[in-house]
Amino acid sequence: METTTERRRLFATEKVGGRAVYRVQAATVAAGILLVLYYRATRVPAAGEGRAAWLGMAAAELWFAAYWVITQSVRWCPVRRRTFKNRLAERYEENLPGVDIYVCTADPYAEPPSLVISTILSVMAYNYPSEKISVYLSDDGGSILTFYGLWEASMFAKKWLPFCRRYNIEPRSPAAYFSESEGHHNLCSPKEWSLIKNLYEEMRERIDSAVMSGKIPEEIKLKHKGFEEWNSEMTSKNHQPIVQVLIDGKSQNAVDDDGNVLPTLIRVSSVISDSPVILNVDCDMYSNNSDSIRDALCFFLDEEMGQKIGFVQYPQIFNNMTQNDIYGNSFNVSYHVEMCGLDSVGGCLYIGTGCFHRREILCGRIFSKDYKENWNRGIKERGKQNINEIEEKAKSLVTCTYEHRTQWGNDIGVKYGFPAEDIITGLAIHCRGWESAFINPKRAAFLGLAPSTLAQNILQHKRWSEGNLTIFLSKYCSFLFGHGKIKLQLQMGYCICGLWAANSLPTLYYVVIPSLGLVKGTPLFPQITSPWATPFIYVFCVKTLYGLYEALLSGDTLKGWWNGQRMWMVKSITSYLYGFIDTIRKCLGMSKMSFEVTAKVSSHDEAKRYEQEILEFGSSSPEYVIIATVALLNFVCLVGGLSQIMAGVWNMPWNVFLPQAILCGMIVIINMPIYEAMFLRKDNGRIPTAVTLASIGFVMLAFLILIDGKSQNAVDDDGNVLPSLVYMAREKRPQYHHNFKSGAMNALVCFLTLFSFTLKQG
Ligand SMILES: *[C@@H]1O[C@H](CO)[C@@H](O)[C@H](O)[C@H]1NC(C)=O
Ligand SMILES: *[C@@H]1O[C@H](CO)[C@@H](O)[C@H](O)[C@H]1NC(C)=O
Repeated sequence: METTTERRRLFATEKVGGRAVYRVQAATVAAGILLVLYYRATRVPAAGEGRAAWLGMAAAELWFAAYWVITQSVRWCPVRRRTFKNRLAERYEENLPGVDIYVCTADPYAEPPSLVISTILSVMAYNYPSEKISVYLSDDGGSILTFYGLWEASMFAKKWLPFCRRYNIEPRSPAAYFSESEGHHNLCSPKEWSLIKNLYEEMRERIDSAVMSGKIPEEIKLKHKGFEEWNSEMTSKNHQPIVQVLIDGKSQNAVDDDGNVLPTLIRVSSVISDSPVILNVDCDMYSNNSDSIRDALCFFLDEEMGQKIGFVQYPQIFNNMTQNDIYGNSFNVSYHVEMCGLDSVGGCLYIGTGCFHRREILCGRIFSKDYKENWNRGIKERGKQNINEIEEKAKSLVTCTYEHRTQWGNDIGVKYGFPAEDIITGLAIHCRGWESAFINPKRAAFLGLAPSTLAQNILQHKRWSEGNLTIFLSKYCSFLFGHGKIKLQLQMGYCICGLWAANSLPTLYYVVIPSLGLVKGTPLFPQITSPWATPFIYVFCVKTLYGLYEALLSGDTLKGWWNGQRMWMVKSITSYLYGFIDTIRKCLGMSKMSFEVTAKVSSHDEAKRYEQEILEFGSSSPEYVIIATVALLNFVCLVGGLSQIMAGVWNMPWNVFLPQAILCGMIVIINMPIYEAMFLRKDNGRIPTAVTLASIGFVMLAFLILIDGKSQNAVDDDGNVLPSLVYMAREKRPQYHHNFKSGAMNALVCFLTLFSFTLKQG
């Protein structure tokens, strides 16, 4: 039974169950970790008997322990949110606030305009009063092709929006709708359905062929004055500011074919629509749920708790994931556990897409109890300015010097200049006293495209981990910046991703050194019969099993979890390692390492292998050499170690080496697909022979160092209003761009040197 106050609320917050089991588990694991560390500290071997290797193990375990503590901050008492859209409609239907939607794109070749406009059309078609929606496309590449796509979309919207409303179709991205609804379009007449489908497909063909040829037909250029902005000297890195209003929702002409007016892209929107709520979404994430605006407003408009909520974040969910998530990019555990935990201690992180903000918080407003939001803002008439004057005014706000003159992007509002500026923006909002809410509805609100090759995955995580570590080491470190302003658990929560990159060295150490110790005869764990083995085994097993339990509960499959474990190792020794080294180099003022970017558009073969869940390598890059070397090294160590144990080479009981043999064996099992890619597969996605040879070389080198104990020099390597639609591109000038490039084999050389040193000492 609902109580009276609950009946009034627009959203409910529920505690996630199972906390008693969790807390018992956490307490015993904590005790186990302390015993492990005590053992490490009190049993240090004498110099020359593996002391350096032992101390390295101790350091790695100390790090894992600290990181474990940090990850517990979000598991203590997670919450879930639920909304009541019917109550919102009952109370606020006539007074719903305006919403500005920002869609961001960068490059017409990596993000084809036909994909971008599907996203645009899906958000224009929200189940929300059209005259209150304004859609802005921010094009960082300033491309005429994207502008052309948007112009076509503004024409197609006149048919598409009435069609969506009339039959209440879902999802409202035409690309997704027509690919899913084949055959079951019984809502409307087949004739009407085919008509709209053909219109859509013709439009897509026109856009795709323009992108292919790189040219817009001259007769089309005459149809909108916006095309005049482009001339032959312009490049994606050097152009004037461009703002073009394609549909002006406040004028009478913006009426769709049913006779309705179309829905009207922070600074630019302030002179154009100035809505109190802003949604920003990536260009490849279409809306899969036309009610998402209403769900988000249930938080902002709640009479009791809404006042404190600064932003509402939806998870980033991918629609082209294979069943067992071969690249581990579902983030199921992050969204089902970590974000819910953060939500209970002050607010989830802002992840840069799928997020509704109050406009005021992006302009730096500090939370105060007395502040009353003006939900009617922007809805009134804009005055007597005509659209050209507004475009000129908006242009002055997107010049590259604008930000240099104001504090706008600096101390307040959106934080620029960091690779993961969204995280800082969110932190700054929390530090100004606002809370945030995380909502993960059963039917996904936004669906995007997951990277479908290993190279894209490695690159994406390198960028993320590097950006997050840079923040951790800057004045925006949550412990410094958030000190005294946000809860300790939230400060810790921000570090979970902040310290991803720092996991690289301990992980690399753990997957290499114990295995080498197995061959060299250096015991690094207590023997399996000793009581001291118990905490090691307990911590390892319980932590793994609890992780498995969380993953299964969050919707992963067993195999998906297993793939996730492999990807964690692979990312740690490549993306996170590169991210870590680059961040350190940046801190020391050295230039960045270059990182190979492979094509984003995948071939037919690649797509097929992705469906079959086969790892995609294909090119020769240094990251693959690291992966192959670690895999091969463990295999050789396992074989070598076991044969030496059986031959009784060392005067030590065999079970002294059992834990290392088990660890090494597990690394070998998890790397099975890597061996396959090196030696068995024949397709184009296999590990190239050059990489296999290089890894064999590195393994031999490691053994030479190991056996000689001498160092070698490191080798090289209807009547309704239509939503307004605006195109904008920030001004770009070459002097504002800095390009750093240098050798990429450095990472390999760095860690080889590090290991040869450890081994020599050991
Ligand atoms: C997403 O998956 C589909 C198949 O499920 C594939 O055809 C498509 O190429 C994938 N998208 C990307 C960007 O890889
Ligand atoms: C997307 O929306 C459709 C309904 O249009 C639904 O069937 C599907 O489950 C949703 N996808 C996800 C991942 O929630």
